[in-house]
Parts: sequence; C-alpha cells; structure tokens
Amino acid sequence: MSKKALVITGASRGIGRATAELFRDNGYQVINISRRDPELADVTHIAADLSQTDWTQNIAAALGQAVVNVDTLSVIHSAGLLLKDNIDSVTADDLHRVMQVNVIAAAQLNQLLLPSMGAGSSIVYVGSTLSEKAVANSCSYVTSKHAMVGLMRANAQDLAGRGIHAVCVCPGFTETEMLSDHVGGSREILDDIASGVTFNRLIEPSEMASTLKFAAENPVMNGSVMHANLGQIER
Ligand SMILES: NC(=O)c1ccc[n+]([C@@H]2O[C@H](COP(=O)([O-])OP(=O)(O)OC[C@H]3O[C@@H](n4cnc5c(N)ncnc54)[C@H](OP(=O)(O)O)[C@@H]3O)[C@@H](O)[C@H]2O)c1
Repeated sequence: MSKKALVITGASRGIGRATAELFRDNGYQVINISRRDPELADVTHIAADLSQTDWTQNIAAALGQAVVNVDTLSVIHSAGLLLKDNIDSVTADDLHRVMQVNVIAAAQLNQLLLPSMGAGSSIVYVGSTLSEKAVANSCSYVTSKHAMVGLMRANAQDLAGRGIHAVCVCPGFTETEMLSDHVGGSREILDDIASGVTFNRLIEPSEMASTLKFAAENPVMNGSVMHANLGQIER
C-alpha cells in the first residue's frame, strides 16, 4: 500500500487541529509544525516559530526524517497571524512579521519538502475571504492573504508537469480562537458575525478540515481559489 503523509502548520488549535485529526483518521501519517504541541495521538510534532526568518534551520533534519519513504505528501499551510492595523498604524515590523508567518514561511516549507514530493502530492494554502476582498483595520492580514493566492498561482505554474497541484482554500468566519480573540471573546459580536452568514452560524473547524482534504486530494483543483464561507450575506 502506498504511504501518504500530511505536513501541516498550525495544528495546535483551530482549523489546523481539526484537519490533522481528519487526515490521521484517514490513514495519513501527520506531521505538525507550530510552537505549541497539539498533543494529538499519532501526530508527530515539530516545534518551530514561523515568525523567525531562519526557522527552517533547526527543523530541517527532523522534518526530512519524518517524511522519509513517503509516496505522496500533502502540505497544508494553516498557521496564520491576524493583527489589527490599518493604513495609518501598520508598522514595517508588523507587516514583515505577518508576511513571514502567513506567506514566506509557506514558501520556505515548500522548498524543504519538494524533494520528497512525488506525483500525486499537493500544496494547500489556507487563505481567507480576505484573500480576494478587504475590510478596514486588517491591513497586514489582507495584504498577506492576497499574497498567498499569488504564491499558490505561481506554484501551480512552476510545478507544471510534476504531478503536484496547488490550491488556496479561503475560509469564512470559523469558530476558532483566532476569531474569538479578534473580537475580544465577545459572544455577542460572534453572534452578530453569524447573522451575516446565510446559514446564520459560524463554520465548524471540521467543515474546513473536510474542504481542505478535498482540495489536497483532487488535482483538478490545481491553481484555483476555493471559497468556503457558508455564503456571506451581501450588504
Ligand atoms: N477562524 C476564521 O474565522 C478564519 C477565517 C479565514 C481564514 N482563517 C485562516 O485559517 C487559518 C487557521 O486559523 P484558525 O482560526 O484555526 O487560527 P488559530 O486557532 O489562531 O490557530 C492558528 C495556528 O497557527 C499557529 N501559529 C500562529 N503563529 C505561529 C508561529 N509564529 N509559528 C508557528 N505557528 C504559528 C498556531 O500555533 P502556535 O500558537 O502553537 O504556534 C495555531 O496552531 C489561518 O491561516 C487563518 O488566517 C481563519
């Protein structure tokens, strides 16, 4: 039987965690990269801080070891950093940090893993509704999420003929700590956000997990931006 693996960033919580569990439960060997250990059974954890520009140096050997003898490898870039900033307040340091975590770390990880990625492998980015539109006060995040789409499209072109596909899945409002932290933990604001969704609820992390699995396993999606937002009400 062929050996399939998932390398995912940001599985210590939220969408990444649900995705790691789903892939593991479907026969994948799963390797997570984040600062905190998800402490998930049968998931290998490699600790790294993606905000450090040289983060790959300390983990390259362990990662190479973890994916040895794998036939197909899916890489899911789920780790993300969301700051509140805008055109007046955004600092160069914050913009660098958000770009490093959300975009540059993904490109660095791809380069580490490509030698282990045979035909049938995939690269999936977790973008956002804000990959293709903007809201106020999320300047660095919006910039980085748009850049993820560019990186994905460039990957799809560069990988032509190698049997590896790239997709950007763009979640809408998903019930995770990132969203909760962003609204100061207010249930009232979360309910108000949910009222702007056609199903009047937030997305479950498990729903994003199955969407990401579909993207990772279907090469027909190569080069595409998949919106997965439960239908946002146009205002
Ligand atoms: N929730 C939403 O409504 C929503 C909507 C659209 C898009 N998204 C996107 O979905 C993805 C997952 O979001 P989520 O809601 O699941 O967020 P979350 O609950 O905050 O989880 C974020 C993950 O990213 C990891 N991470 C953050 N900074 C890191 C760093 N410097 N180094 C290593 N790992 C780091 C965290 O791990 P450690 O803290 O352990 O390092 C954590 O596992 C993100 O890319 C986010 O932009 C979310």
